[in-house]
Amino acid sequence: MTYLPAESRYDNMEYRRSGHSGLKLPAVTLGLWYNFGGVDSLENARSMIHRAFDLGITYFDLANNYGPPPGSAEESFGQILAQDLAPYRDELIISTKAGYYMWPGPYGEWGSRKYLVASLDQSLERMGLDYVDIFYSHRPDPDTPMEETMGALDYIVRSGRALYVGISTYDPEQTRDAARILRNLGTPCLIHQPRYNMFDRWIEDGVLDVLKEEGIGCIGFSPLCQGILTDKYLQDIPEDSRADRLEGEFHWGDSVTQERIAKVRKLNELAQARGQSMAQMAMAWVLRHPGMTSALFGASRVAHVEEAVAALDNLEFSAEELQRIDEILAE
Ligand SMILES: NC(=O)c1ccc[n+]([C@@H]2O[C@H](COP(=O)([O-])OP(=O)(O)OC[C@H]3O[C@@H](n4cnc5c(N)ncnc54)[C@H](OP(=O)(O)O)[C@@H]3O)[C@@H](O)[C@H]2O)c1
Repeated sequence: MTYLPAESRYDNMEYRRSGHSGLKLPAVTLGLWYNFGGVDSLENARSMIHRAFDLGITYFDLANNYGPPPGSAEESFGQILAQDLAPYRDELIISTKAGYYMWPGPYGEWGSRKYLVASLDQSLERMGLDYVDIFYSHRPDPDTPMEETMGALDYIVRSGRALYVGISTYDPEQTRDAARILRNLGTPCLIHQPRYNMFDRWIEDGVLDVLKEEGIGCIGFSPLCQGILTDKYLQDIPEDSRADRLEGEFHWGDSVTQERIAKVRKLNELAQARGQSMAQMAMAWVLRHPGMTSALFGASRVAHVEEAVAALDNLEFSAEELQRIDEILAE
């Protein structure tokens, strides 16, 4: 059946300008790191993407290695794009990244020009696209000169492979360097993609200040701490949750500890008093920061997409609420 997007899709979504650029992004963005790969149901992936677009989510975030297996999220997305979303390409922001391991040998990861350009060409082929809207350096490379990595991003824009470029997980000093080099090349850095949630506030210590000074947007990933900042784990670890599927091998040392869950229980009470679910309050908390362009969440079912978007119904926090959240997190 032909997919027809909801006519109401732009009625309720908020769009925020990314730094000093001309590009506005939806306040919530859907990421395809998990649940959109070759091992997952294509029909479920399709339903989540349709629902997201129907609700005004115009931005879909990918990377070369998303799957599993690596590359397969781009393939699935490309299939859904070709079958359902091709007529709406100009209403979509699609990003991909390169930085992590993709193929053997010295040119299959990190930040050389050789790797970044080859990887993006592979990504474009997998997605069936002529260009992406945003291409990211997925992680800083300690062994490649910053000038080379940023020069590759500039070349990627000039060669028509991407419209904008961004960086991900760069620290404050690296962010400042990257911004300066890109500015001098004439391809300004559009956005930074760092991890940001109630349990991981590292960007409050420098990165957000640099972004403000440089006029660069910020899209915080894993606002739900991979599901921990929801009501999912309040009783136990349910079957088919990410924690169950990855058997405790959460990225960056995330884990469902009793200490964390005790805090989430208290945060959940506060969320309920605000008339929100825990997930919604976690999304709203990320978006409370004036430097935040978008909250980049993940989903395993359509209801997660709906819940994330509904967080926008209440983004206001009183000073008392913010203080209470800080107290709970500090306990
Ligand atoms: N640049 C980088 O280095 C980097 C790194 C990581 C991620 N990212 C980007 O950020 C995106 C989001 O990351 P993430 O998936 O970790 O984000 P997240 O939003 O913190 O976690 C998403 C997971 O939380 C669970 N969830 C979502 N909504 C829920 C709800 N309402 N109730 C209960 N559980 C809910 C689901 O897990 P279940 O499967 O358990 O249902 C979902 O897969 C990625 O897709 C990717 O685009 C970027």
